[in-house]
Amino acid sequence: MAAIDQVLEGRSVCICAGSGGVGKTTTAAAVALGMAVEGLKVCVLTIDPAKRLADSLGLEELGNEATRVDPELLKANGIECRGELWAMMLDAKQTFDQLVARHAEDAEARERVLGNSIYQQISSALAGSQEYMAMEKLFELHTEGRFDLLVLDTPPSRNALDFLDAPERLTQFIEGRSLQLFIKPTGLAARVAGRGAGVVLALLKRILGFDLLADLSEFFTAFSGMIEGFQDRAHRVNALLRDDQTTFLIVCGPQAEPIEESVFFHSKLVEAGMNFGAAVVNRVRYRLVDGEVDPEQVEAEVDAELEDPDLSSRLALNLAEYELLADRDEENVGKLRERLGGAPLIRVPYLDTDVHDLTGLAEIDRYLFADEATRESLAT
Ligand SMILES: Nc1ncnc2c1ncn2[C@@H]1O[C@H](COP(=O)(O)OP(=O)(O)O)[C@@H](O)[C@H]1O
Ligand SMILES: [Mg+2]
Repeated sequence: MAAIDQVLEGRSVCICAGSGGVGKTTTAAAVALGMAVEGLKVCVLTIDPAKRLADSLGLEELGNEATRVDPELLKANGIECRGELWAMMLDAKQTFDQLVARHAEDAEARERVLGNSIYQQISSALAGSQEYMAMEKLFELHTEGRFDLLVLDTPPSRNALDFLDAPERLTQFIEGRSLQLFIKPTGLAARVAGRGAGVVLALLKRILGFDLLADLSEFFTAFSGMIEGFQDRAHRVNALLRDDQTTFLIVCGPQAEPIEESVFFHSKLVEAGMNFGAAVVNRVRYRLVDGEVDPEQVEAEVDAELEDPDLSSRLALNLAEYELLADRDEENVGKLRERLGGAPLIRVPYLDTDVHDLTGLAEIDRYLFADEATRESLAT
């Protein structure tokens, strides 16, 4: 089975998609590092890196600028890098839910806003706009042509499909009524900005419990600049997603639900005419022993060493449970493999520690960049 470098052969855009919490950010960073090690000039666009991972990539602050990971730092971590690794943290906008949570005075006010229909439209469009912004930045960097390969981490949406729908949802929102109300010169914004605005705003403030309009206006000002030529760009972004230069990695966990979601996502990708590169099943548990585990026998074996009957019985049970999980993981991965019909599937084991630095990423790369046989021998 192919390794990541074979999957990415001849591609210049790699999009890591999948549900939240499965290891997308980790995988994106590890793929970028591995390809840089092999000699490419790579930039990873991360969205929500854990603080320690961001620090270790030298991403100290938010900002839509690519910065190069210090070659000396790579060397100090024992990483021989023939190419260049660059990283960028996309400015992930606060979601409106957080805004409400922060400003609403009490639970009742919060519920009132969350139940508001304009609010609901705006917030779902904003959630989509984060995805759209990510693609927009990807498109921009791709057009500049400074890098051999761009690796895009995707926002932590609950549903991987949100990412594919983002351009369309945003277009719909822009053309919809609620936004027009705010941005048209004759719209609500103009009216409230005129005479008597103070009264309206004060009233809104009383009703909502916080100054919603003031918070919104900043967003809409930034947003309205994007509207011109928007559809044209959305079209070109869509074309890039479908281009032969682009490929998708589906990152998922080995549990039944994420596996099901990946099967579905894969079919959607294919249906939408996008290139599927590989599935990366992350945090897979592998069997520690061959054959059935008999807890009593294990307990008897370790008892002599541990001299603590309670501890040895818990250890034996724990091992039995772990083996059960490992069997389930294998079964689930098998299902995905079947449904992918021969397309690459790469398993990465559940490591003992979190992956939050360059050494951790290099450890992940031992699996991502190994052929199937080597990978399996490493994992077991
Ligand atoms: N193979 C792995 N083994 C152990 N921990 C992992 C592995 N992959 C990721 N992690 C850890 O899991 C957490 C979530 O990973 P992250 O990449 O941030 O997920 P996502 O971007 O999908 O939300 C992080 O703390 C990361 O260090
Ligand atoms: Mg992430």
